[in-house]
Amino acid sequence: MQKYIVRGGRPLYGEVRISGAKNAAVAIIPAALLVDGVCRIENVPQISDVTVLLKILDRLGANIRFLNPTDVEIDCRGVRTTHVPQELAHKLRASYYLIGALLGRFGSAEVSMPGGCNFGGVRPIDQHVKGFAAMGADVREGDYIVANAKGGRMKGASVYLDVVSVGATMNIMMAASLAEGTTIIENAAKEPHIVDLANFLNSMGANIKGAGTDTIRVFGVDSLHGGTYAIIPDQIEAGTYMAAVAATGGEVLVRGIIPKHMDCITAKLQEMGVTVEEKDDTLLIRREGALSRTNVKTLPYPGFPTDMQPQITTVLALAQGTSIVTEGVWDNRYRYVGELMRMGAQIHVEGRTAIVEGVSHLKPATVQAFDLRAGAAMVVATLAAPGTSEITGVQYIERGYEDIVGKLRSLGADIQSVEYSDDEEFIQRQIG
Ligand code: EPU
Repeated sequence: MQKYIVRGGRPLYGEVRISGAKNAAVAIIPAALLVDGVCRIENVPQISDVTVLLKILDRLGANIRFLNPTDVEIDCRGVRTTHVPQELAHKLRASYYLIGALLGRFGSAEVSMPGGCNFGGVRPIDQHVKGFAAMGADVREGDYIVANAKGGRMKGASVYLDVVSVGATMNIMMAASLAEGTTIIENAAKEPHIVDLANFLNSMGANIKGAGTDTIRVFGVDSLHGGTYAIIPDQIEAGTYMAAVAATGGEVLVRGIIPKHMDCITAKLQEMGVTVEEKDDTLLIRREGALSRTNVKTLPYPGFPTDMQPQITTVLALAQGTSIVTEGVWDNRYRYVGELMRMGAQIHVEGRTAIVEGVSHLKPATVQAFDLRAGAAMVVATLAAPGTSEITGVQYIERGYEDIVGKLRSLGADIQSVEYSDDEEFIQRQIG
């Protein structure tokens, strides 16, 4: 196993290039199953969730060829099975996209219940199932989700989502692309990755209108053709580097982003006294003085993203005054708070609200990454805490952040990834 050793308390300086968006890539790669030809997908992030998905497609019979580390050709014409076994599906949450893609292509899917990050509460998929059922599929849920379209092909339908769900919106879009007739998704999610998946499918011949608004119309077509598509930059990766600079101080140019996608994060950092200057596809982040308190409420896009909540809470832990953070998307996403408190943060959680009393500095500690974004928060916290900290559970971080250690080192951070054993972790946690 790996752990990170971080000698914190140094400001960050330099430039960092943002990789392709994880939450777009984990939908677009399964969507290649719908395509009758070769998809060349560019700007694919080099993260373990992507590797796992490509391995799943390979096991299903797809032909995968890397042209370079970030551009990959996927040819799913040879796929003959719709069965995704448990040992593969349980490795990531996004394996649920295989259900929509397989249903769209073959009219049937048998996918083990998805695994992935568990940050506390339940992660239901009832809205995905509701959409598939409206489109004529018989869906049975057990250890496996077994879905079969009546007559072997999905049928267009109107689906009103009871909650704004990124996963259900994308899954229904996939199942609808090759369906007979038109599907209307109302109360759809509007995240940049929703638009990216629609653009990918449209570039391969699908007919999807309205992605990025509340109502998406998918006019089913008979087949999709191959093509080339580049994934958008990762809003959350960029936001995490912005948060890191806010916490440590310094000046960093974040390159290769879409500034519009960053507005919700930029606005909060500016309220906290961080300077953010936009130019073309870059943002310059500078933090010199003290951080001011503010309140943050996470909401579906264009609201403040829940996937930035742990990182912004960490920055607020260092701001002057009392800040209130409200989690508006997930029932329970504060498991990391205990780790921050072991570093001296003063945070009180009540249900979906965290009351953060700012402290002047965090203390070094051995902390654990419980999930991907909790892990990102631990990175931000340990970079800001003067002294030597350790982060275990970093495999979660590497599911979603490409070369985080290398990128931070290029900004002057003292962080390294080292091998360690379970026994060592046990002993250190008893000491820490
Ligand atoms: N929900 C339901 N029923 C459903 C689906 C969702 O009640 O069928 C609820 C959830 O419990 C939650 C809310 O709706 O309260 C939103 O869930 P959503 O479906 O939007 O989440 P998701 O698609 O499972 C994706 C990202 C998450 C991110 C959320 C919200 C992927 C693989 N995951 O999850 O990303 O937090 O959207 O933006 O795209 C992460 O990257 O760290 C991460 C967890």
